[in-house]
Amino acid sequence: MSEKIVVAIDGPAGSGKSTVAKKLAERMKCLYLDTGAMYRAVTYCSLENGIVDNAEAVGDLAARIDLHLQFENGITRVFVDGEEVTEKIRSAEVNSNVSEVAVIAKVREELVRQQREFGKKGSLIAEGRDMTTVVFPDADVKVYLTASIETRAIRRYKEYVAKNIEITIEEVRANIEKRDRIDSSRETSPLMQAEDAILFDNTSFTVEEDVEKLYIIIKEKVSTKV
Ligand code: DC
Repeated sequence: MSEKIVVAIDGPAGSGKSTVAKKLAERMKCLYLDTGAMYRAVTYCSLENGIVDNAEAVGDLAARIDLHLQFENGITRVFVDGEEVTEKIRSAEVNSNVSEVAVIAKVREELVRQQREFGKKGSLIAEGRDMTTVVFPDADVKVYLTASIETRAIRRYKEYVAKNIEITIEEVRANIEKRDRIDSSRETSPLMQAEDAILFDNTSFTVEEDVEKLYIIIKEKVSTKV
């Protein structure tokens, strides 16, 4: 790729954003930014420090900690002040609290700043809830990835089963619905489809089909730059 390209992908939990964005980044040999991992890391630290219910303290923590993301071999490794928290940020406890943390304006302000800094490094695929609307409004390609609630719940449930985490499909679905509700109705940067974003519903697609179709869409959109 000769010129810098930014692909911004937003969508609800379980829409497959991370899986698809990672594969696209590998295929296009560009950077991958998992912004959900950043909100998760702040949530994990807030839980560890017993301050998750104190918005002001969580905001201060977000500005204070040294957050580092490292994408290698298909995995985003996450470090906070040098400690690896890659696995810890995927716990059920973090899942249940992350949307409330992501509502805090000071947390968003700080993480959006860091995400834009990351975007200066080179071509990238960035995924989250406000990539197309707030963080990279001038992205070359904007995608709103989604799938039916049933499909999204099954995907997440399978991830838990693979990790031997005991949970029912009903609990997974309830958690996703709660997060969808909070993420879409919050005042600061709610999850929504940007006017100029391509709506991509992958309910009946495999990951490989998603990647192939999106790769073609991206190539067409940026053909003058690639
Ligand atoms: O994509 P994920 O499940 O790892 O995201 C975790 C939470 O972080 C999600 O419920 C909402 C929040 N989030 C956000 O508010 N803005 C982003 N850009 C990314 C994630």
